[in-house]
Amino acid sequence: MNQGKVGVSTFVHLLKAWPWANWTQELAAVRMLCIRSHHKGSSKLNEPIEIREILSTQLKEYKMFLTTALSEDGGNLIVTSSDNLNAPFPTKDRNDSFTLGAYSKNVLAGVASFAREDKEKLSHKGLLFTMYVSTGFRGHGIAKQLLGEIIKKVKTVLDIEQINLIVISDNVRAKRLYEKFGFKKYGTELNSIKWDGKYFSEDLMVLRLR
Ligand SMILES: CC(C)(COP(=O)(O)OP(=O)(O)OC[C@H]1O[C@@H](n2cnc3c(N)ncnc32)[C@H](O)[C@@H]1OP(=O)(O)O)[C@@H](O)C(=O)NCCC(=O)NCCS
Repeated sequence: MNQGKVGVSTFVHLLKAWPWANWTQELAAVRMLCIRSHHKGSSKLNEPIEIREILSTQLKEYKMFLTTALSEDGGNLIVTSSDNLNAPFPTKDRNDSFTLGAYSKNVLAGVASFAREDKEKLSHKGLLFTMYVSTGFRGHGIAKQLLGEIIKKVKTVLDIEQINLIVISDNVRAKRLYEKFGFKKYGTELNSIKWDGKYFSEDLMVLRLR
């Protein structure tokens, strides 16, 4: 009996004496470190990343990648699972309409597409869209490689003067990435997205090439 009481009171005493405040601060510091090192995990992957064009004949592979993307972290993509179901390949296998894939050991880890506007009066510009890196590959510079390659490729098309994109306003990660490459915000569309009864605003960004 007594032993039990001593045991409980010792535990209560220890509980009161424990430096919870310090412990909570330390935990927060460790958490910050983890976030930073995950982000600054821009350290290299063990395997080099290979950027290759994904062609329309690879529709099945592309769609499978998007299906997984949408189920793991699709909140920042405009496309939904039902959009994805019957959608054709997004680009036309041309130097002004193409999709790039980032491969690690032949595993597709990220994608991004670019397409010139179809209408004649808008054809001096194009849209960057559906940029996605699988969660397990993030923080290693893959999006930077994809975006760098897209810009390089688009620059070779001499009559394309600007790349536009649309990004959900609170997608800080993606916006930082785009700003790094010189994209500038030129507007915001309020309530641009309505999904699950909630509204989201989108920022419009542009990179002028010439
Ligand atoms: C946004 C996304 C493509 C970034 O992919 P990633 O391969 O992890 O990005 P990178 O490692 O190349 O990092 C590129 C830059 O993005 C920013 N970034 C990446 N991760 C970040 C994080 N956790 N916090 C803040 N910024 C971050 C940084 O500016 C970083 O550059 P830096 O490492 O030189 O600081 C990826 O998170 C993703 O697929 N998100 C979901 C889909 C999405 O939001 N797509 C964009 C739609 S417009």
